Amino acid sequence: MTEITEVNHNQFRVVIVGHVDHGKSTLIGRLLYDTKSLPDGKYEELVQICKSRGTDALEWSFVLDAFQAERDQAITIDTTQIWFSTQERDYVIIDAPGHREFLKNMVSGAAAADAAILVVDATEGVREQTKRHAYLLSLLGLRQVGVVINKMDMVGHSSETYAKVSKEVDDYLQSIGLSANYIVPISAREGDMISSRGDAMPWYKGKTLVDVLDAFEYDSPPLSRALRFPIQDVYRFGEERILVGRVESGSLSKGDKILFSPTNEEAVITNIKTWPTDSSKVTAGAGEVTGITLDERIFVERGHIGSHTTNPPMLSNVFRANIFWLAAKPLKVGNTYKVRYATVEATVTVQSIDLVIDTDDLGQNEKAGEVGKNAVAEVTFRSQDMLPIDPYTDNQKTGRLVIYEDYDIAGGGAINMEGYPDQRLTSQPKSENIYMVDTLVSDETRIELKGHAGGIFWFTGLSGAGKSTLAMAVEKALFERGLHTYVLDGDNVRHGLNQDLGFSPEDRAENIRRIGEVAALMADAGLIVISAFISPYQEDRNRARAAAPDVFNEIYVSADLATCEDRDPKGLYKKARAGEIAEFTGIDSPYEAPSNPEMVVDTQNNDIDTCVEQVIKYVEERVALKSSASNDQTKKEKAIAV
Ligand code: ADX
Repeated sequence: MTEITEVNHNQFRVVIVGHVDHGKSTLIGRLLYDTKSLPDGKYEELVQICKSRGTDALEWSFVLDAFQAERDQAITIDTTQIWFSTQERDYVIIDAPGHREFLKNMVSGAAAADAAILVVDATEGVREQTKRHAYLLSLLGLRQVGVVINKMDMVGHSSETYAKVSKEVDDYLQSIGLSANYIVPISAREGDMISSRGDAMPWYKGKTLVDVLDAFEYDSPPLSRALRFPIQDVYRFGEERILVGRVESGSLSKGDKILFSPTNEEAVITNIKTWPTDSSKVTAGAGEVTGITLDERIFVERGHIGSHTTNPPMLSNVFRANIFWLAAKPLKVGNTYKVRYATVEATVTVQSIDLVIDTDDLGQNEKAGEVGKNAVAEVTFRSQDMLPIDPYTDNQKTGRLVIYEDYDIAGGGAINMEGYPDQRLTSQPKSENIYMVDTLVSDETRIELKGHAGGIFWFTGLSGAGKSTLAMAVEKALFERGLHTYVLDGDNVRHGLNQDLGFSPEDRAENIRRIGEVAALMADAGLIVISAFISPYQEDRNRARAAAPDVFNEIYVSADLATCEDRDPKGLYKKARAGEIAEFTGIDSPYEAPSNPEMVVDTQNNDIDTCVEQVIKYVEERVALKSSASNDQTKKEKAIAV
């Protein structure tokens, strides 16, 4: 139970970041001294150390070294927490011994902070790590950022230098979607503008660093957010079962109905258990470690997340994350990793690397095949099982994940569900008391009457890949050969049956769910159904397959984005690029190419007639009667059962 720690909500958590040698340690030492937060004897120790090392001036960074030495002896966690207090409140600075550890802590959430201070050297301005760290702050959603322009004593306390470096920092921050709430000129060594103003920079009228810190607000109180109660452990005491965990956000009360994800099971809280026992406790809020008992014996285990029935986490087996990669071995498509967030642990495979961002020049690469050390990237992961998921923007506690390779932290980042639907919405039947009725017309007699078996030929591919063109040509040819066939086409069906659906991830999922069911009915009736839908999500196509597993054929109509955009038959890509169509597949909405389709039709490198011929041949084989050649036993069974 080591992960259960009490959170002190009165402490304001700060991270101090900056390029190496820009004065972070000195600043921390000085901050402790100026706020009278150095433990007894530390100052004398510092004077002593400086003397023994032959420096007259006090090296404030030695203060940190001393903390470091204690830390090394004491415990093995890799975060250092340093406390100080202003007259306003208590602070904890989250720090780490080295650059790498620091990044690890930042991405793993060990350093979940309310605000950040970015230290920039007045003599050097923005450097590589300034950019990396700042980028990380933006990635992790930190919105309260103070900048200190340090070593002002080394530039003659010049207001011009301050203005120049401030602008440089501010321009950079703006380019990555951050803005500095305050930019303070300081000299950590001399103590100017830390807690007292000093005499050296009368031209600066803004806040001192301590005033800046005191002006920051606590990150939005998790108490006011939707309930998330990740289960840490389940204890059994005789008949009683207690579910233990930390309430990460929101609150729960005796009598509340709790929905557990991903199982979708519900039960009511009968009791709230605390240590030491306090039977009067009826509510537990964000930050509290608590145990609950339920009125029903439903299956709950570590890694399940409790919520209320309204505002539960999303359910998905695919999600995106903005990640920071730390491991020497690059992240690649197809690789498998362990991810952890809240108490959830899952094995995931990298489905695609959607964007790699160079943290130095912010160059974006959409075609990178791997994510190297210290790179930031947008990656899509897929897991075998359904996972409870919160986008980071909804919940900072559960929306941040750590990626492990061989038990080492390899990276981490923030979950982002843009472009992906909540699968909870598409996976649950609403009605009860429904019974299937058997028909009196057998598959065999239908096949006999029609002269061929029914089947579903499901075209998937980008808009402009040629799905509709191909579908119509194939239908015509088959029809002329006397086969019973029908095309379900995206644009057509969206005029009728699915006219209530748009292009949000949820609407697309519902679009495909309905078409999957309609296609299954038509195939059951003995028709050869050719469907032409982008159907961008693998999960939806899998579900369509599940509606008619014996006769479903996934056909990938393949042409890359550049080719489709070049063709742009309806002028939609142009509009999408101009920002006139939102969520356009391939532009700002994902397309998941089939990983294992029955057939690939390459319209990029073959002319349309060739492609049509290929499909016709394939369809005829699949629906053929006994006399025709077919090499697929399972698919043929249905056709030859006459
Ligand atoms: S799907 O994603 O839900 O499978 P579907 O195949 O039904 O899409 O419809 C795609 C067609 O709708 C495209 O060929 C295009 O003509 C049109 N369309 C309009 N808006 C969009 C959009 N945002 N993304 C993709 N296609 C769009």
